[in-house]
Amino acid sequence: MAEDLETVRRRIEKLREEIRKHDYYYYVLNQPIISDAEYDRLFRELQELEQKYPQLVTPDSPTQRVGAPPAEEFRPVRHALPMLSLQNCFTEEEFLDWDRRVRRLLGGEKPVYVCEPKLDGLSVELIYEDGVFTVGSTRGDGYTGEDVTQNLRTIKQVPLRLLSDEIPPPRLLEVRGEVYMEKEAFKRLNEERAKSGEPLFANPRNAAAGSLRQLDPGVTASRPLKLFCYALGRVEGIEIKSQEELLVTLPKLGFPVNPLWRRCETPEEAIDFYHELLERREELPYEADGMVVKVNDFAQREVLGEVSRAPRWAIAFKFPAEEATTRVLDIVVQVGRTGALTPVAILEPVEVSGVTVSRATLHNEDEVRRKDVRIGDWVVVRRAGEVIPEIVKSIPERRTGEEKEFKMPTRCPVCGGPVVRPPGEVVHRCENLSCPARIKESIRHFASRRAADIEGLGEKLVDQLVDKGLVRRISDLYHLTKEQLAALERMGDKSAQNLLDQLERSKGMSLARFIYALGIRYVGEHIAEVLAERFGSIDELARASYEELVEIPEIGPRIAQSIVDFFASEDNRRLIEELKAVGIDPRAERPKEKGPLAGKTLVFTGRLSDMTREEAKRLVESLGGKVASSVSRKVDYVVVGEDPGSKLDRARELGIPTLTEEEFRKLVGR
Ligand code: IVH
Repeated sequence: MAEDLETVRRRIEKLREEIRKHDYYYYVLNQPIISDAEYDRLFRELQELEQKYPQLVTPDSPTQRVGAPPAEEFRPVRHALPMLSLQNCFTEEEFLDWDRRVRRLLGGEKPVYVCEPKLDGLSVELIYEDGVFTVGSTRGDGYTGEDVTQNLRTIKQVPLRLLSDEIPPPRLLEVRGEVYMEKEAFKRLNEERAKSGEPLFANPRNAAAGSLRQLDPGVTASRPLKLFCYALGRVEGIEIKSQEELLVTLPKLGFPVNPLWRRCETPEEAIDFYHELLERREELPYEADGMVVKVNDFAQREVLGEVSRAPRWAIAFKFPAEEATTRVLDIVVQVGRTGALTPVAILEPVEVSGVTVSRATLHNEDEVRRKDVRIGDWVVVRRAGEVIPEIVKSIPERRTGEEKEFKMPTRCPVCGGPVVRPPGEVVHRCENLSCPARIKESIRHFASRRAADIEGLGEKLVDQLVDKGLVRRISDLYHLTKEQLAALERMGDKSAQNLLDQLERSKGMSLARFIYALGIRYVGEHIAEVLAERFGSIDELARASYEELVEIPEIGPRIAQSIVDFFASEDNRRLIEELKAVGIDPRAERPKEKGPLAGKTLVFTGRLSDMTREEAKRLVESLGGKVASSVSRKVDYVVVGEDPGSKLDRARELGIPTLTEEEFRKLVGR
């Protein structure tokens, strides 16, 4: 018996309304009010009803986010109001010039500014008619963009229908904003692409653009795109008079707005905010290339008007460039812990986004050829995020003829051993397993902060230990005596004892850190965590077959082979036995399953009074918890130290419990 169609229709509408509400809580407010399972139940019920009654499917149903077939090409969409670009300024003086011009043009009226981070993504326009999302387009040339409606529908933060709890849906609303990809998501996407041999995206902006401009919406749906809205096109049936009002109204209609905006009464306040943003730039989850300053009052904007496709009422106050040009003084070769020879350019020091850069990696010989970098060349260097500086390209136009081409040495510059380039690889390697450079690098890696975290075992000390023959392999570290250490340069009894204490403490490192510390090729921190969780002990990991390893989602053939090779080596097996013998117990229980912080995720912001971040992280991990670098709804606590940053604001926004340092100590029993 078919149910009464009207009853079904009402149930369907009810379900859609519920789901829309929960999408908003989840994707826009980051604060779900029901469990994932409950949500799935609602969604499934809706899907089943729609399958049974296809005549009741509407394009604004939450089930319709994916499912549109691939397009042949993008239809052009003319923007009713052009999507303008922004004028730029780079210095405080230029910004103040702009402010003075605004004041002059406004006569006696004083402007108030609204400042927002300038996101590096791609701008889109979303059209809502009677509250329903009808057309979405890219900016294109500002006048005509591409119809990417189906792709935008797959982004969960794009409301398919406006929320109408507080505001009745206007006849027409054109909302503009930026589609972007978070830095972490970008990294993960590229890692996946590397694994499957697909070309990498150069930066999050390109990844976002490439993902949105996909003929198959299914591909867009699989990419972690996000949205922040910040401007209007045409509107009918709703009155919004200022940027502030816009930024407060948009969320009520269901749109995500970047919470990091500020009302500034004076240009000085705007400059202060600029410096604040600049300072936080690295920690922001997305890439921002500046701050947009906008005149708040829309009536004043009318007075100011626009020139050459850019409004006079707004300006992009750009952050310092992350690129600079300088000269290559030399190209030297470094030997890494795997014996890999890496050409490194020694540069005439140059400032790139506030940091002096004097070396940049050139990765390998092919890279040097591809970029055609010669000793003496002028080059463009880039610093992006935490990444080590990189040479973008050489500038052949500036050559004098004195430049020298780089050649990979045939003998290791450190031990004089033979250098080989295995067939099919881009890397040259020193084959000598006891090459001091390899030993030093593997010890430095083992001792590094994210590995065994042996404080005080710095570069110079490692040099001395290896050069004096006191340490030939990692396990030797644990047999050093106080007398041996105290006799070294710049060491005394006290620092010797400190180092011994640190070494002793490091024996309790987690399995994930231990796996990472071993320096297995391609096994970074994340993969080490995956392996620790999957295998539970170093012996189990050592026994894992290639087939078992590649079955793990995060692990591709290259990583699997590298792990198998590592444990196939007699020498490496001996090393692990030696480390066990000194009490490094790699069979330590999986921390996640026990401890007072089991399954909890914490975020730290601000300084702790007598613990470094690294120590705090170790402590949390040892109690079964995890430490995340940014605040999301998955975080259980945010620990607030001195001078907290934006993570605290974010925690408050999401309603995540915060702990003072004192409370954190209590929680961990310290
Ligand atoms: S307002 C006429 N606000 O910057 C002003 N734009 O160079 C309309 N952008 O195409 C834009 N973040 O893609 C505005 N908070 C923000 C922005 C922003 C990034 C981009 C946008 C625009 C470009 C102009």
